[in-house]
This record gives sequence, structure tokens and C-alpha cells, in this order.
Amino acid sequence: MPARILIVNGPNLNTLGTREPDIYGHETLSDIEAKCKAHAQSLGLALDAFQSNHEGEIVDKIQQAGKDYRGLIVNAGAYTHTSIAIMDALLSLKIPVIEVHLSNIFRREAFRHESYISKAAKGVICGFGSDSYRLALEAMAKLTA
Ligand code: DQA
Repeated sequence: MPARILIVNGPNLNTLGTREPDIYGHETLSDIEAKCKAHAQSLGLALDAFQSNHEGEIVDKIQQAGKDYRGLIVNAGAYTHTSIAIMDALLSLKIPVIEVHLSNIFRREAFRHESYISKAAKGVICGFGSDSYRLALEAMAKLTA
């Protein structure tokens, strides 16, 4: 049975492709999810993807992920820098969490340098555009082997 992995994307990531393409690239979220699913399969993982603009929905999904998945990859978007609720939900999980960002948040505005998600993450991958997700899947394959 392949390990089931969930990718959670937070606010505004549904607008990838048109949103600030100089920073986030031209691929849509569907493009990225499709690439990730194919890559996951090649790594022997089964991948589901979820996106929401709503903090509470993300908390609900994270709580559920603890029951249904072996690993969680999360790009919480702007909630990365603000959400104690999402951090608390992640801290309660027993499965590994990998934090992902398309952009290198440490090269950007100071308010993006703080991440509540990092406090609950096994590791952080940022700055590689959509490849950040691919790299996270590779790390997750090792963590769940
Ligand atoms: C982001 C970085 C965040 O600071 C920003 O609010 C996002 C996207 C990224 O993937 O680079 O929405 O998480």
C-alpha cells in the first residue's frame, strides 16, 4: 500500500498563474498539483491535494489529516506568518509535516521571515518555485519509507 500524503495550500494559492508571476511563476495550482501527483506516484506515494482561503477549513483539514494520512506538506500562504491556530493544529499531529514556499521568504519583507508553521515542521523548503513541492515529496518519501 503506498503511503498517503496530503498537500495543503492556503490563501491566494488558488490564483497561482496570474498572481504576481515574477514572484510565484506562471504555473497554476492545478498544473502544480498534477505534476506533484505524477511525481508522488513515481516515488511510491499516493497524493491528495487541498486548497482553502479559510483558516478554519485549513485547521479542520489538518485535524482530519492526522487520521487519514502518513505525511503532510503545507504551504499556508500568508497564514504562515500569522496563524497560531494552524500552528496548534500541526503541533497536535504525529505524522511528519514539511513546510513549503514557492518564494524564498527570507529574501522578502521582514514580516515574511517569521513562520509559525516552522515550529511544527520537520523541515522547510522555500525558494525553488514549484520545485519546492517536488523536493518536499522526495523528503517525504524518505520520512515515510
Ligand atoms: C508563500 C509566501 C507567503 O509569504 C505568501 O503570503 C504566500 C505564498 C510562498 O509560497 O512563497 O501566499 O507561502
